[in-house]
Amino acid sequence: MSPAELIAIARKAQERAYAPYSGFKVGAALLSSTGNVFTGVNVENSSYGLTVCAERVAVFKAVTAGEKDFSCIAITASGNGYVYPCGACLQVLQEFSPDLKLIISDEKNNYKEYNLNQLLPRAFMLQS
Ligand code: THU
Repeated sequence: MSPAELIAIARKAQERAYAPYSGFKVGAALLSSTGNVFTGVNVENSSYGLTVCAERVAVFKAVTAGEKDFSCIAITASGNGYVYPCGACLQVLQEFSPDLKLIISDEKNNYKEYNLNQLLPRAFMLQS
């Protein structure tokens, strides 16, 4: 699947974001190694700290469906410029796919590509 196709899926999902408090809508499209795409949107709450980001919603949906290996995620948002995932989402993404490719889109669907280890070079790892 091309970056443009994955961005289009994230952008479509973004319409369904629940963001009445920030007004900032985010969409994510997570491509699994088996070729399935899982979308996510940010889901806010009047108790602000309960908000969940779009990226984590996509991961949790995928894991619930039995998928734990991902090749790529596209992220779109309603603001201007490139919107990068927060640190919490990067940590959740690296739990499953440390080699993940991230496609970060701006409002015109221009995009930049990164590897997860560029954005989170020293992820937390539980030592056993
Ligand atoms: N948000 C995401 O969905 N993903 C991120 O990586 C960062 C922030 C959401 C959370 C909140 O609903 C809104 O953006 C403003 O912080």
